[in-house]
Amino acid sequence: MSIVFDRVSFAYRDPERSEKQRRRERKRAERARRAAEAAEATVGAANTAAGPEGTAGTTTGPAEATGPASAAPSPASPAKPAWGGAADAVWTLRDISFSLEDGEFFGIAGHTGSGKSTLIQHMNGLMHPTEGRVLADGQDLSDKKAAQAARGRIGIVFQYPEHQLFAATVYDDVAFGPRNLGLDEDEVDRRVRRALESVHLDFDALRAKSPFELSGGQQRRVAFAGVLAMEPSTLVLDEPVAGLDPHAREEFLNLIAGLHAGGLTVAMVSHSMDDLARLCDRILVLNEGRQFALGTPADVFARADELRAIGLGVPAAQRLANSLRTAGLPLPDGLYDTAALADGVAALYHAREGDPEQEGWEARPEQEGRTAREGREARPAQEGRTAPEGRQTPEGRQTPEGRPAREDCPEREGRHA
Ligand SMILES: Nc1ncnc2c1ncn2[C@@H]1O[C@H](COP(=O)(O)OP(=O)(O)OP(=O)(O)O)[C@@H](O)[C@H]1O
Ligand SMILES: [Mg+2]
Repeated sequence: MSIVFDRVSFAYRDPERSEKQRRRERKRAERARRAAEAAEATVGAANTAAGPEGTAGTTTGPAEATGPASAAPSPASPAKPAWGGAADAVWTLRDISFSLEDGEFFGIAGHTGSGKSTLIQHMNGLMHPTEGRVLADGQDLSDKKAAQAARGRIGIVFQYPEHQLFAATVYDDVAFGPRNLGLDEDEVDRRVRRALESVHLDFDALRAKSPFELSGGQQRRVAFAGVLAMEPSTLVLDEPVAGLDPHAREEFLNLIAGLHAGGLTVAMVSHSMDDLARLCDRILVLNEGRQFALGTPADVFARADELRAIGLGVPAAQRLANSLRTAGLPLPDGLYDTAALADGVAALYHAREGDPEQEGWEARPEQEGRTAREGREARPAQEGRTAPEGRQTPEGRQTPEGRPAREDCPEREGRHA
């Protein structure tokens, strides 16, 4: 399923700004009222001084009074807008255009508050652009029916999805979405088993347990299974490994990479440039709601200085490669993930192997029981990362050529999406 963002901007009404604006308007109206009263009093005094038949002031009524009353701004005059639109509008996304292609692993990066979570909620019509359009397979998601259909196919896993667990048992929690679709119990059962298996949880051991008896990492898997049980074709993940320990986060990332290798299109928000470099075909970087960069990891991380200027980093492998270059190793550019860096260093090692002119590169063929060359051959260089097919997952699995067809399924109301 392709998702196209066509010049999408989003603004929300800030209650604080709305209140300030209301206060300003009340003050203006009060000033105008007082000025009008003062002008009326001045005219009245002039008339009294001129006597009952006097002419002074008779031609100048309150409506024509000059001075403070006319200088006061009209109560209705609008304050200057923050960025287009109403004065109390805060624009969190501005002019975003990109397309998420079928089968892609798409990363979304950006500083805190840059608009990442707001953006992903536009992907299945949970939020609607204030300007621009979002199209899912060509259907404009501002249309209610199109948005509802898209929600069945595009599953969003929000940050800390375990906070949304609610049912008495793991089974019922995962079954909630499929049951809402009106599926028969056999089909619900099949989906629950399959979803729990996908997240590597033991169906028989956990099905009757309360989700709240599980560890945080297991709870997250259960919540994740709840989205997978809807059998979406696109999975949108908002910082899926936030708060997990290093082992659990690695397992979870492998799980996501495995799902992608199995045919799911993935869009993942992350603060980890290492994870994005390792997993993504393309990365979108947001800065203050605007599209700062969009391209392959190589395209994006080539702009290291600009990324640093907006408070973002580059992958650790890229920093190490830079240090090695500074120390004199003629490494090529574009070594932004660990595997590519390892291959680059190994290639240099082998190029210099046996060259007596080179120092510091003594041949040490045996490393933990295998030669460096064997090691390199066992792990081919990560080339062609822009192609969804043929990618290596962290587990070393290849993306299958044929992606399984997925069913349409309506939204899982009120939860996850
Ligand atoms: N409906 C809303 N009401 C109030 N503030 C909102 C609303 N929608 C978005 N915002 C604000 O918009 C900005 C972008 O928020 P968003 O959650 O998308 O950022 P983010 O990039 O996901 O940040 P983080 O990395 O911290 O999760 C923030 O300043 C947020 O407070
Ligand atoms: Mg967020």
